Amino acid sequence: MNVLWIVTVLTTVVAINGSLYTQRFLEQYNKIHNSANGYFSANGIPYHSVETLIVESPDHGHQTTSEAFSYHVWLEAVYGAITGDFSLFNNAWNLIDSYAVPSLQTANAAYNPYSPATFQGDLDHPSEYPSLIDSTVPVGYDPLYQELKDAYYTDYMYSMHWLLDVDNVYGFNNTQYQCEDGYGGPSLINTYQRGPAESVWNTVPQPTCDQFRYGGTNGFLDLFTKDSSYAHQYKYTAAPDADARAVQAAFWAAKWAHEVGVFDEVSYTVSKASKLGDYLRYSLYDKYFKQVGNCVGAWTCPGGTYKESAHYLISWYFAWGGSYNAQYSWAWRAADGASHFGYQNPLAAYALSSDPDFTPKGATAVEDWAKSLERQLELYEYLQTEEGAFAGGVTNSWKGRYESPDSDLYVDTFHGLFYDWEPVYHDPPSNRWFGMQPWSADRLAQYYYVTGDPQAQGILAKWVSWVVSNIRWNGEDFEMPANLEWSGDPPDAHVVITSWGNDVGTASATARTLSYYAAKANDAEAKDTAKKLLDALYTKYQTSKGISNEEVHEDYSRFTDSSYIPNGWYGSYPNGDFINPSSTFIDIRSWYKNDPDWAKIESYLNGGSAPSFTYHRFWTQADIAISFGIYGILFNE
Ligand SMILES: *[C@@H]1O[C@H](CO)[C@@H](O)[C@H](O)[C@H]1NC(C)=O
Ligand SMILES: *[C@@H]1O[C@H](CO)[C@@H](O)[C@H](O)[C@H]1NC(C)=O
Repeated sequence: MNVLWIVTVLTTVVAINGSLYTQRFLEQYNKIHNSANGYFSANGIPYHSVETLIVESPDHGHQTTSEAFSYHVWLEAVYGAITGDFSLFNNAWNLIDSYAVPSLQTANAAYNPYSPATFQGDLDHPSEYPSLIDSTVPVGYDPLYQELKDAYYTDYMYSMHWLLDVDNVYGFNNTQYQCEDGYGGPSLINTYQRGPAESVWNTVPQPTCDQFRYGGTNGFLDLFTKDSSYAHQYKYTAAPDADARAVQAAFWAAKWAHEVGVFDEVSYTVSKASKLGDYLRYSLYDKYFKQVGNCVGAWTCPGGTYKESAHYLISWYFAWGGSYNAQYSWAWRAADGASHFGYQNPLAAYALSSDPDFTPKGATAVEDWAKSLERQLELYEYLQTEEGAFAGGVTNSWKGRYESPDSDLYVDTFHGLFYDWEPVYHDPPSNRWFGMQPWSADRLAQYYYVTGDPQAQGILAKWVSWVVSNIRWNGEDFEMPANLEWSGDPPDAHVVITSWGNDVGTASATARTLSYYAAKANDAEAKDTAKKLLDALYTKYQTSKGISNEEVHEDYSRFTDSSYIPNGWYGSYPNGDFINPSSTFIDIRSWYKNDPDWAKIESYLNGGSAPSFTYHRFWTQADIAISFGIYGILFNE
């Protein structure tokens, strides 16, 4: 996209919608789309971040996530609202189809919904892996498979795989249609898979399709799963909060397009969003479709025969896979019994259950999403502390292997699910980061803005008053809560804010939550706080590429953390990096030594001071643009 194009768009836009905050949206939007700033790959895919050296959830900045795809769709929806041009929204969704939804799913037809997947328990520490695959543990029936097949006439899942190596840095050449034998990237990859204690610093990245070209004798499979033999196969993992965010973005695009009489222009994309939401129901079920509620004992807790296995909350992930070019054809699907409040999306549940534009074709989808909406609202109430913040989440599978939790957790369960202050991952604890709070509260506030639901208002009123009173102001500059600590169990859980910082992404998400809440509840203090946050972002944190702040990364000492490769295991990456029991994070990523920022890491590892970075994460930069735009749209200022 060239400069002339940007100038033309900007002029048209100001004429159509001229508020101060929508102009700020466009300024930030144009920075994101300025090709000199490096947000997008040559194929138009948004990178996780402009900067390549970044290790957090992805382990490299030029990877991308389903999160980034969903933020892109949302950004372009707001662009449509402000300019009347929804074509970029449609294009952003097309990228999801072209890159994030796997095309290699050839064995799916062999799937047997009466035997969705073989049980494999999570282990406490990555050093204990591989974990035994155990067919003696009963699993349940998958009630979604047949109705999705009847609705869409296909065995292929319409869900985003969560992680892509856009620049093919690892070199797997594992493109959307191919199995380690494509040409270049983007390459579908996966990380983690070794229990709650496996941080990004320990993870061993692997291609989503494994025909044993790289890794060891069995590719990468035997790092994770202990089995008697191994077969070539593909396997994908969805991050349901991202798929839900894409649905939520499409909901707004549809609403705004209706307002100006151009719904036709987005209707095809809206039908795809509805379909994505239909498959997203896999997140509402227990991992092995076992009975939900007091599911204690892997062997004693029975499999569900129909929907006894639904908890109706948006869980951490779901996954599917099948054999690749093998003599015997087989396929599997797994859902998830662990739900973090931070992943809930009442607006997406509302759209999929109540908005006729979004009615999914699956026979019981409306019913499922209506129950999910109700259950999500109840979850916020259950987890809300006296202070106002939301505590972690709930699980149907204690320790990821249906163990018995501490006895106090049996007292006040959530529909038989156990409270977990740090669901799914512990390094760092999954509910330490303040950002989860506004991420989820924002969706609740959007739902409240659309429906006026008094239950949502009650929850939000308490949350908003906690947040507003805990943002610190130094003149016109803010300090947001950064890290949170938790004690007690619901209904008596408590939060303490242990640190503050000037993270621009959480400031932006908080500002948008407050904007939606203030617009509906007529709350002047919430509106004023939103405006002050947005003004501070705009006036104090500008960079040439967006809006950001400096971060010091003491955690980057962990470039030498162990990868926990089992004794006797040897393999290699496409570039020749060895994988063996002494491997560390940097050993299996030697290409990082060619990164322009590597010198900072090297000096830190040699005893220098902790390195600092000014990152431009796609989600953050899009989030800020969206917050400006929404404030302008809501208040016409
Ligand atoms: C800007 O556009 C949005 C979406 O079409 C509309 O709701 C809002 O009222 C407009 N604002 C102004 C200032 O025209
Ligand atoms: C992987 O793709 C690259 C292009 O990026 C190509 O040069 C290389 O030969 C491919 N590797 C294999 C093993 O086919």
